[in-house]
Amino acid sequence: MERKTTVIAPEKIAEQMAVCGEIREYWMEQGIKPLAFVDTYGCQQNEADSERIRGMLQEAGYAMTDREEGADIIVLNTCAIREHAEQRVFGNVGALTHTKRRHPRQKIFLCGCMMGQPAVSDRIKHSYPHVDGVFSTHHLWEFPSLLLRVLKSGKRVFAVADEAGSIAEDIPVLRTNKLKAWVSVMYGCNNFCSYCIVPYVRGRERSRLPEDIIRECKEVIAAGYKEITLLGQNVNSYGKDLGLGIDFADLMAEVAQLEGDFRLRFMTSHPKDASKKLFDTIAKYPKICKQFHLPFQSGNDRVLHVMNRRYTAAQYLELVDYGRSLMPELVLTSDVIVGFPGETEEEFEDTLKLIDRVGYDALFTFIFSPRGGTPAAKMEDPTPKAEKNRRFDRLVELQNRISEEKHRSYIGKTFTVLVDGRDGEKLTSRTDGGRLVRFPGEDSLIGQFVDVTVTDCTTWSLVGELARK
Ligand code: SAH
Ligand code: SF4
Ligand code: F3S
Repeated sequence: MERKTTVIAPEKIAEQMAVCGEIREYWMEQGIKPLAFVDTYGCQQNEADSERIRGMLQEAGYAMTDREEGADIIVLNTCAIREHAEQRVFGNVGALTHTKRRHPRQKIFLCGCMMGQPAVSDRIKHSYPHVDGVFSTHHLWEFPSLLLRVLKSGKRVFAVADEAGSIAEDIPVLRTNKLKAWVSVMYGCNNFCSYCIVPYVRGRERSRLPEDIIRECKEVIAAGYKEITLLGQNVNSYGKDLGLGIDFADLMAEVAQLEGDFRLRFMTSHPKDASKKLFDTIAKYPKICKQFHLPFQSGNDRVLHVMNRRYTAAQYLELVDYGRSLMPELVLTSDVIVGFPGETEEEFEDTLKLIDRVGYDALFTFIFSPRGGTPAAKMEDPTPKAEKNRRFDRLVELQNRISEEKHRSYIGKTFTVLVDGRDGEKLTSRTDGGRLVRFPGEDSLIGQFVDVTVTDCTTWSLVGELARK
């Protein structure tokens, strides 16, 4: 099979790097050391995109700042997943009229998933004249040209043409975290879950070549990163478009066998094509964390069907049971939606039953938010908001009880953790399963794997002490 994905030619990326050089000169001629503020509203994919935006800005001579005030460029990398995420962006963009007034050479760019919706870019065009540039995720690689055009002409630019999407290699990256590296393995999504905007704003599934992924992983390991998270909206589809006979489990196995002191995670996985082979691979390699984030969304088969998820609760549980039979210590986390259009009280209770049956360490719980252009936004939704809120509270209460029980069962056990920082008196760290453990210790341990024995817990975190050798 031919590779179907459009790859941006290396010469085009080289051109963008030359443009970065022109931007550097533009500022040097004025004797200014420009500052950039880049803020991320979305998921890890968006975070990974922001690291590339920062990489390009650094290449163009900008130093990063964590304040909007006085920044020469502000880039807001937006998220469209729920209405609340969009409202936050509109609110914050509105407020930027003031920072720009105080610093007139400030340029404001909006990018990310929200900008993939024509209604949003039109609204920005007409109602937010202080925004200088807008680009969707498909145009990220040409950000340097867009910026140069704005700097030289003073005119606004909009790069929002709808596309199936492409892959651009070798964009510079400025990673924010010194220990944990995101490595995208694929972009886009073909699943069209009926509530979800992602396939519309991020285009079709496309996989990076395994050699490009392995090269990036080797680079971050050599640079001292201790944790790699392989990213994609649905990593189980990895490789389908490549026709190389390599799937996600094969790719993980390859990364897990690289030399070095690191651990490996991945997200996110769709239950309809999470294979037993993937669980076997997780069980086999010590470097792969024994954690699986496997969103179930609803415990009711009718709702799952209308969500277009293409699995049943029983099939989901079969996967979970298989994973646990291989790895009794497997930590499971998940996403769930409450108040999907037409969800009845009984159907909601099926969700509670599934949660109780699986016993997740943690859950990300969302109230359904209608997204323009998705099928679910047009479905009849008779359940009042207050009732949805009540369901949400019941679910959170159940999960808190389960999380606390899980955490209590960890007391007395010893885990290898990666120490990632300090919070007041204690160091902060994460177990293989992603649980937060705080414990007393020296700063010199930050960035290291150490063994910690859990001594106490709360609903959200564990407390421990260094294990005796
Ligand atoms: N690709 C990932 C999820 C990305 S979005 C996956 O398929 O698992 C993260 C989560 O946001 C989803 O799992 C879902 O629970 C939630 N979500 C997506 N669209 C939503 C909507 N319209 N309303 C409420 N929650 C939503
Ligand atoms: Fe959205 Fe479904 Fe794709 Fe996840 S798999 S990004 S929920 S459409
Ligand atoms: Fe949001 Fe886009 Fe991620 S919509 S959740 S930032 S893929």
